Amino acid sequence: MNEQDLLCAAEEARKMAYAPYSGFLVGAALLTKDGKLYTGCNVENASYGATNCAERTAFFKAVSEGARQFAAIAIVGGKGSETQPCPPCGVCRQVMCELCDPDFRIILDDGATYRTYTLRELMPLSFGADTLKKGAR
Ligand code: THU
Repeated sequence: MNEQDLLCAAEEARKMAYAPYSGFLVGAALLTKDGKLYTGCNVENASYGATNCAERTAFFKAVSEGARQFAAIAIVGGKGSETQPCPPCGVCRQVMCELCDPDFRIILDDGATYRTYTLRELMPLSFGADTLKKGAR
């Protein structure tokens, strides 16, 4: 599955977004290293902090079904029918750091084209399992 296919899957997932408060609809398509696809949308809540982002929906679906090795995620977001580049929020980046290698790819829709970043680029100096080790430097 190439990057365009992943973006198309994210666009499809975006149609399921439940975002009555922000009106900002997001879809994500997560690809495992063995070629399985998991999609997600944002799911908002009247208690705003209980909202789940599209990316985490996709990750939690995948992990709960046994997936552990991830290659890439495509993200498509924007108000109403418009889309605009939608970089993942800090909480989603932290979840990516927990579950992905530094060369995990993050593909962002950019209108007529798209841009691909690595997790290494989007989350330098991250807090992770190694940081928790006693005496870590
Ligand atoms: N949102 C996502 O789903 N992913 C992101 O990376 C950023 C934000 C959602 C959360 C909320 O439902 C809406 O976009 C506005 O913040």
